[in-house]
Amino acid sequence: MSEIVFVAKESDPNEPRVAGSVESVKKLTSLGFEVVVEGGAGLTSRILDAEYERAGARIGTAKDAKSADVVLKVRRPTAGEIKGYKAGALVIAIMDPYGNEEALASMAKAGVTAFAMELMPRITRAQSMDVLSSQANLAGYQAVIDAAYEYDRALPMMMTAAGTVPAAKVFVMGAGVAGLQAIATARRLGAMVSATDVRPAAKEQVASLGAKFIAVEDEEFKAAETAGGYAKEMSKEYQAKQAALVADHISKQDIVITTALIPGRPAPRLVTREMLHSMKPGSVVVDLAVERGGNVEGVEAGKVTEVAGVKVVGHLNVPGRIAASASALYAKNLVTFLETMVSKETKALAVNMEDELVKATALTHGGAVVHPAFGGRNEGEK
Ligand code: NAI
Repeated sequence: MSEIVFVAKESDPNEPRVAGSVESVKKLTSLGFEVVVEGGAGLTSRILDAEYERAGARIGTAKDAKSADVVLKVRRPTAGEIKGYKAGALVIAIMDPYGNEEALASMAKAGVTAFAMELMPRITRAQSMDVLSSQANLAGYQAVIDAAYEYDRALPMMMTAAGTVPAAKVFVMGAGVAGLQAIATARRLGAMVSATDVRPAAKEQVASLGAKFIAVEDEEFKAAETAGGYAKEMSKEYQAKQAALVADHISKQDIVITTALIPGRPAPRLVTREMLHSMKPGSVVVDLAVERGGNVEGVEAGKVTEVAGVKVVGHLNVPGRIAASASALYAKNLVTFLETMVSKETKALAVNMEDELVKATALTHGGAVVHPAFGGRNEGEK
């Protein structure tokens, strides 16, 4: 009898994404799984039950989770949902584990092996499983679309018989995955784009996309990148120099998009209320870091507010605003990861707890929290 993969319908009304696509169902079926998709799971990502069925899935209900060997979700399951899973099942989702130790404990108690996709290491082997990248990339695109929607002028320069419309000036703060896509998108729409970051590696990437790089390039900047490729939290002195440099620049911008994050820390404050006041009325600031406290002073989570005539956009779950594309990429990330846990010989699930991808992402296993970042201990340390 083949093992069962269950694609759950998201219970959070603010989550339109889904953990399975037509492509991923086909792939799972070809790997030898029996796939059950909860009825209506794909509707908010524009995937009909009939399409999943044609791809080889059976349409089921939440009760089918009980017999599943693997449960695929976008968000961490609720306590109630976990009760519906069988002990020993693999549960794979974006688990948001930090600060949610109680939820981890209840997953451990239920005996499931829970994996946090966002903890996937950023190594070549795991690139196609990197949900932070797949979702941030789309969020960067969507941030520009949201900005263009709120902005009451055109982005490209337009020379018409009735006169010339100037190109919008767009400034992207934080040139990681989301920021680079925001730069590329704004450029495609014809805006004049500049960007800043604290990592020296970003300089060349920004320039290669045709945008102007603006940063305080002192000794601290030259050492700001961690071995993992992330930013460090900068000193108070650096932050003051950075603020002075960008303050004047921001006052001349039409659109500012902020994406700056530091792993495990609140988002750095990059745009002050004073800077918002210095901008022209009708300008737009989109804060992609709002879920981590925000880069913009006064940004309100889930809202578009106005400060001195400047629109401050704080949409939550920005990848969810482009759900059909986000689900397609997320489902592919999941399947690629799950495939690494299927034995080529037996075509059955064979989780190797020593594999580096498993070690990095497994939160709970065998009734306990196993991830070292959450109090678990690796086998070798026991
Ligand atoms: P992130 O989402 O943690 O942060 C976004 C950006 O904000 C980063 O570029 C960061 O340097 C910047 N930032 C932080 N503090 C700032 C400040 N005070 N002012 C201005 N900018 C600030 O980073 P993300 O997007 O996840 O990417 C981090 C790095 O990882 C990038 O170099 C990216 O290319 C690399 N990466 C590598 C992958 C791999 O598989 N090898 C996969 C994905 C990303």
